[in-house]
Amino acid sequence: MSTLQPGVASVSSRALGVLLDSWRASSGPGYLALAERIRLLVLDGRLPVGTRLPSERELAAHLGVSRTTVAASYAALRDGGHLVSVRGSGSVVRLPARVTLPRPESTEGLLDLTKATLPAVEGVAEAAVLAAGRLGAYLETSGYDLVGRPVLREVIAERYRRRGLETHPDQILVTVGAQHAIALLARVLVSRGDRAVVEAPGYPHAFEALRLAGARLAPVSVTVDDGWDESSLLQTLRRTSPPVAYLMPDFHNPTGATMPADQRRRVLEAAAAEGTVVIADETMAELVIDEGAAGPGPMASYGPAVLIGSAGKSLWGGLRIGWIRAERPLVERLVRARSAGDLGTPVLEQLLTAELLGDFDRIKEERRLQLRRGRDRLVTGLREAFPSWTVPSPSGGLTTWAGLGAPVSSQLALAARREGLLLAAGPVFGVDGAFERFLRIPFSYPDADTDRTVEALARAWDRLGTVASPQAPLLASVV
Ligand SMILES: Cc1ncc(COP(=O)(O)O)c(C=O)c1O
Repeated sequence: MSTLQPGVASVSSRALGVLLDSWRASSGPGYLALAERIRLLVLDGRLPVGTRLPSERELAAHLGVSRTTVAASYAALRDGGHLVSVRGSGSVVRLPARVTLPRPESTEGLLDLTKATLPAVEGVAEAAVLAAGRLGAYLETSGYDLVGRPVLREVIAERYRRRGLETHPDQILVTVGAQHAIALLARVLVSRGDRAVVEAPGYPHAFEALRLAGARLAPVSVTVDDGWDESSLLQTLRRTSPPVAYLMPDFHNPTGATMPADQRRRVLEAAAAEGTVVIADETMAELVIDEGAAGPGPMASYGPAVLIGSAGKSLWGGLRIGWIRAERPLVERLVRARSAGDLGTPVLEQLLTAELLGDFDRIKEERRLQLRRGRDRLVTGLREAFPSWTVPSPSGGLTTWAGLGAPVSSQLALAARREGLLLAAGPVFGVDGAFERFLRIPFSYPDADTDRTVEALARAWDRLGTVASPQAPLLASVV
């Protein structure tokens, strides 16, 4: 099946049909339902701006509708600024100059649940004062650097040592958040046309970074109950010998799965045999909620792996501090390549992060209590409101990957916008439009927002009406 990738200028009827899936189930006229669905795909980034849609005739034939229906849909999209007719190129997707989302019916602002983030931990302001006090020693310097201040690299190395992994500060490269770390690694390790193994569902901005570096993604399934499809993962590694595999072994985003120790060993052994660099994104690893639920320790304790960490979830996203732990030669390559994209991490944020990491045991406990409260409130609320859903209660991380029982995630996300909620529909976490039966919902927000989420989802679900009936057609839940 063809997938949509940036740089691919057109989408076939077949590929668009997969993305559209159950568009017909929307209430109202068929042409509007089709237009709404395409518009959501554009807003979600699943139909990248600049993509040429199939001709009206082709799409009508593929969907089994009249050409008039497709023509009316395209006209509605053109009216809304989501489609433009280009002479010689057909109908091309675009975003209106200013994206106007449907106005929520409530007068409150939209609650943005597309981000699974936490407010700052206690003590950030106090740590900032301490960090500012130390700034004098750096004011004679440029104030930014490509590799990270020694004080922070040492504190990060010490955290790995405390998790049982011997680490020298020279093995640490401080980045501008974990996303920057992923993009930098992708740029250095991937060449155009290379395969990259990823998880499906998985973290969409990692997909984007790998694709931007030229990678063709090879997805491997992860589920809430069974974790990684190990035989498929090992086979994909052997079949494609990819230069990189990007995995989230601890509290995987979005399923919450954690990879057992033995599996880590087998995966790393298979990857090493193919010369594949395993990038283990441990952004969520320290967000342990239940006693004894922590993963079995850093991935690099089980074989060769490059680790990514972040202060963004455990401390505060506003710090924009992440890091890479790798062997020295790779750290040196990354430092040499870095200047093309950015010139370094600011010193004040590094000093502030070093202050906070010194107090990490207290912070972990604060996060644990906060996340346990949020998770229990959300999971209980959802289970009560939606008895037909499957709502997992993950033992760490920030989100639950709810099973809706029907392939209606995009429609639900669209209906939820009208109720004041911004949600990323399930397919955002896949590489080719699957996961319509799932919705990722964060539990990292204050109680009032969690309650509002459940209430607004209940109203949105009611709007879908019969769509959510158990008779709705089944869609393969994984790619
Ligand atoms: C798995 C994963 N990796 C990386 C990131 C990016 O983290 P940062 O804010 O440090 O750039 C996120 C953010 O949501 C994430 O979920």
